[in-house]
Amino acid sequence: MVGVPMKASLAAALNEATDPRRHGGRIFEAARQMGRSWRDIIDFSASINPFGPPRGLKKALDEEFDQILHYPEVRAESLTKKIADQNGLPHEHFLAGAGSTPQLHLLPRVLGLSRPVIIGPAFSEYEAALTSAGLSHQYVLAPENTGWQVNQDTVDRVLSRKPDAVFLANPANPTGRLVPPEVLTRLLQESRRLSFWLIVDEAFLDFTEEGGSLLPLVAEHHRLIVLRSLTKIFALPGLRLAYLAANPKITAKLAAETLPWSLSSPAITAGLFCLTREGFRESTVKGVKIFRRHLMRELNALDLGQIYPSEANFLLWRLRPEFNPRKLIDTLFWNGLLVRDAGNFNGLRPGYLRLAVRPAPEISALAAGLKKFLAGHREDHA
Ligand SMILES: Cc1ncc(COP(=O)(O)O)c(C=O)c1O
Repeated sequence: MVGVPMKASLAAALNEATDPRRHGGRIFEAARQMGRSWRDIIDFSASINPFGPPRGLKKALDEEFDQILHYPEVRAESLTKKIADQNGLPHEHFLAGAGSTPQLHLLPRVLGLSRPVIIGPAFSEYEAALTSAGLSHQYVLAPENTGWQVNQDTVDRVLSRKPDAVFLANPANPTGRLVPPEVLTRLLQESRRLSFWLIVDEAFLDFTEEGGSLLPLVAEHHRLIVLRSLTKIFALPGLRLAYLAANPKITAKLAAETLPWSLSSPAITAGLFCLTREGFRESTVKGVKIFRRHLMRELNALDLGQIYPSEANFLLWRLRPEFNPRKLIDTLFWNGLLVRDAGNFNGLRPGYLRLAVRPAPEISALAAGLKKFLAGHREDHA
């Protein structure tokens, strides 16, 4: 087959059952396996801002470099205060963390959950956090025939499970669909009426044009917890940065379980810098929309499968059954391109892929890789 040497497959190495979490973005492992520099790999498997971090971040980090000679603030107080000021709420509502992932892992124990429900398909760390706290969980899936949009019927099915917590992302990963405002409103009302925790992950909300944050509502909805990862929008997954917003009683409990110094000085500096960049979010949203359309056009032209509607900086793609997803992923891999095999998300099957929205030259490289796959496929089936 064209472009695919007979070597161990990336899909096997990076996506198989030995690692139940199976994340995208494993560029350094991929580089070792490919025997090339990570700088020569194009990563469509992690959904990171295609424009990179705000301009000037490197300089800001350099200027504060000597801070690493000292312990950072125990609880990133300066950053927490900035976040609180920007959101117009007392700082007691906020807890900064080294990514949303460690914060998610605190929640099941601190909240004392017993009947959590995850609205899927969803980021695998919700399940991982519940499992490692010794809890079982149930999935309620958004319907595929609505393009994976969470709707009122999804809420009915969630409520029928009598949950004590509901985990969902807005927009969802890997589908990129926003949750309609009326559905969020109902979930909020029901969480108050039935006393369940509503945990809303807004990791990708800043990439969307229309999505509204529930964060301001934490002041009045004591059962609402909003997670805001900063690693995607500010393109710093290697630095680890996030915060959550909740009722002060809950943030205090979570803070008591958080280790001191969990944010490094560079992470605090980066947070203070990035959160005060005027217009960064707006220009990202505009650019992502253009690149997303471009990516969709290229994929549609190749006609390998179905693209689901997405409001986010990634697309869910379902290959037609005649195409072998493993071969496609391997062909791309050996051409220096990583994509996320989404077949292992709960509710999906082999044949689903997730592609990050990347800049135009990278989309061209992806299209070239996919053409090689197609040529190989035709050769195999001639
Ligand atoms: C929906 C969602 N939430 C949260 C995270 C975790 O982000 P962080 O880098 O802040 O741990 C991810 C990472 O992929 C994600 O997809």
